[in-house]
Amino acid sequence: MPRTIYLRAAAAIALIMPVIAGPQANAPAGDAVAGSKKNQMCAGCHGIVGWRTAFPEVYKVPKIGGQYAPYLVKALQEYKSGERSHPSMRAIAASLTDQDMADLAAYYSGAPEPKANK
Ligand code: HEC
Repeated sequence: MPRTIYLRAAAAIALIMPVIAGPQANAPAGDAVAGSKKNQMCAGCHGIVGWRTAFPEVYKVPKIGGQYAPYLVKALQEYKSGERSHPSMRAIAASLTDQDMADLAAYYSGAPEPKANK
C-alpha cells in the first residue's frame, strides 16, 4: 500500500534528518514524522498527481515534495509575513507556527516526488 511506504520513508528520513541538516540557527528542528501528520491541509492542493488542484477549478500548484527544507520554510514564512501574496497560501501559512513549518518542510523535503500522470 503506497501510503504505508510513504510513512515508512518519512520515518526513516526523520531518523537521518538531524544528521544531514544539523541544527539550524534560529529555526526549530523539523520532524518529518510530525510533518506527515500536519500535511492533510496541504495534500488537497499539493498532493495531487500532476501537481494540480482539483477543486473548485483546475490550476497548477508548485511541486513542494523533494524541495530543500530551508527553502520551504522560507517560502511559508514569506506567505505568512505577506512578502509573498498568494491568497490561499497566505491563509494557510498564517495558521502555521514555526514548528509546523519546520516539520512540514522536513516532511516534504524528504517526500518522494509524485510521478506525473499526464
Ligand atoms: C488551496 C490550495 C493550497 C493549499 C491547501 C496549500 N497550498 Fe501551498 N501553494 C498553493 C499555490 C496555488 C501555490 C503557488 C502560490 C504562488 O504563486 O505564490 C502554493 C505555494 C506553496 C509553496 C511555495 C513553493 C515554491 O516553489 O515557491 C510552498 C512551500 C507551499 N505552497 C507549501 C504548502 C504547505 C506546507 C501547505 C499545507 C500546510 C500548503 N502549501 C497548502 C496552493 C495551496
